[in-house]
Amino acid sequence: MVNIAVLTSGGGTNLEAILRSEESGRIKSGKVVLVVADREGCQSLKRAENHKRKAVLLDKRKLRKAFEETLVRTLEENSIDLIVLAGFLSILSEDFTRLYSGRIINIHPSLIPSFCGRGFYGLKVHEAALERGVKVTGATVHLVNEIPDGGKILLQKAVEVKEGDSPEILQRRVMEEAEWIILPEAVELMSKKLSEDRNDD
Ligand code: GAR
Repeated sequence: MVNIAVLTSGGGTNLEAILRSEESGRIKSGKVVLVVADREGCQSLKRAENHKRKAVLLDKRKLRKAFEETLVRTLEENSIDLIVLAGFLSILSEDFTRLYSGRIINIHPSLIPSFCGRGFYGLKVHEAALERGVKVTGATVHLVNEIPDGGKILLQKAVEVKEGDSPEILQRRVMEEAEWIILPEAVELMSKKLSEDRNDD
């Protein structure tokens, strides 16, 4: 069984989707043993508590330079194999991504390579998509490397943009029709792969 940490910065609806998929048996090769929030007031902490999962707040503003070393220590203490960035808005350093190479995945709310990279997060992604006038958007799960949103694409799902969409309405549709489906799928895919790789040793 692969030990999973989910890193969050806000609402935690993607975390919720992962926990529900685990509890319903759709994720069966891994277990979320740790939820991390990088700022105060994250609803994800409450969600973790509701599902009886260990949750920690590592306040980036207070920890400053010590944030990543505290994060690494926390991940090690909990024997984490797979890191899932689910609405995690801090950018991780090259050292960190190298340390966990091939073991960090991220959900991004667009079809990469559109509307991604530094500065494209949360609602801003949907605002940019609407401004450009695209008719189709979606979500992408990818491996995380040193380039923001630049790692290997694992799964993508397209979502229709509708006449009169606001950024908020589009964000919700992308979550419901794409993110909450492909992120749990990718978590199972990666957990299965990591546990098979481990057994091969
Ligand atoms: C999600 O739409 C996620 O794709 C996005 O933030 C939202 C978090 O929602 N992530 C990014 O923009 C990362 N670049 P959640 O906290 O409810 O899961």
